Amino acid sequence: MKETVVSGIRPTGKLHLGNYFGAVTNFVKMQYDYNCYFFIADLHSLTTHPTPQDLHGYVRHVLVEYLACGINPEETTIYIQSDVPEVAELYLYLNMNAYMGELERSTSFKDKVRSQPDNVNAGLLTYPTLMAADILIHRATKVPVGKDQEQHLEMTRTFGNRFNRLYNTDLFPESFAFSYSENLVKIPGLDGKGKMSKSNGENTCIYLSDSPEDIRKKVSRAVTDGGPTEENQQKPEAVQNLFDLMKIVSSADTISHFEDQYNKMAIRYGDFKKQLAEDMIIANAPIREKIEEISKDTLYLRQVAKHGALKARESAQKTIKEVRQLIGFKPF
Ligand code: TYM
Repeated sequence: MKETVVSGIRPTGKLHLGNYFGAVTNFVKMQYDYNCYFFIADLHSLTTHPTPQDLHGYVRHVLVEYLACGINPEETTIYIQSDVPEVAELYLYLNMNAYMGELERSTSFKDKVRSQPDNVNAGLLTYPTLMAADILIHRATKVPVGKDQEQHLEMTRTFGNRFNRLYNTDLFPESFAFSYSENLVKIPGLDGKGKMSKSNGENTCIYLSDSPEDIRKKVSRAVTDGGPTEENQQKPEAVQNLFDLMKIVSSADTISHFEDQYNKMAIRYGDFKKQLAEDMIIANAPIREKIEEISKDTLYLRQVAKHGALKARESAQKTIKEVRQLIGFKPF
């Protein structure tokens, strides 16, 4: 039997290169070797209170982009999280055994408390239990994610194991972060610090649907420095980030050319950025074209979502039935 894989993306707008290289490229490869469930985490995105129109539009974007990236709905179950109410039910049960202390210690919660002190809601605190429910509902063992999600997977194992112990069962297997690359990926942004993320500012992100002009403009504004002052010196974070981005879109020759130039103190950041932008445009082009094409076909999107919801619910209902029995919700 094939191992089960689950992963999701929050619909907060369009997908960027961080989502693509951190997660979606793995989804596309995994779909042929594993029993995969890839979903759109619309329940998770409610912590930021999107308007109904925005939420609906963002969910559509992610669905279109999943398909444009090559996730095949015949091979894989693609679904929208809120179409599977069993997830919310399991979330409730898991919350009964998730403790304030451990939830408050989660790095993502602490970050949010710092970045949005006026909106520290219970959904943010219990975000890791919802994520655990997403994974445990299909009893997955592999979860393709970027580096930033590692701690959530550790918490998923804690909650799954705790349930197993409490109800004397082995219902939930342990799941681990997965990537085809050696390490979990962290794609930097264009702002000179941190990861590519919409919450660090729109201009730090290159979206899969960005036009060539958008990409040229954003890359030309990317943060650098005054240039190297010594031969072979270590690069500052902002410059290293751009080299890291080049590593994912450019050829080995191009990378070594600019590395050489940097080491000889002959690099011209203008040329370097132009090359980076052109290689990003080439990498994005086929996906961008497909996004435009698929986006027009609402009937197809509706069919994919409906078919995915049916398949996901079938799997989720099996788990929830067992969970209910174990907890003691039994018919007389
Ligand atoms: P989210 O929506 O923030 O990101 C979706 C996926 O993209 C990856 N990612 C990155 N990878 C590398 N570099 C970056 N700069 C970068 N930015 C984003 C993330 O690691 C993630 O894999 N909590 C999750 C969504 C979720 C989920 C789940 C994932 C909900 N339930 C169950 C797996 C399993 C999140 O907010 O990801």
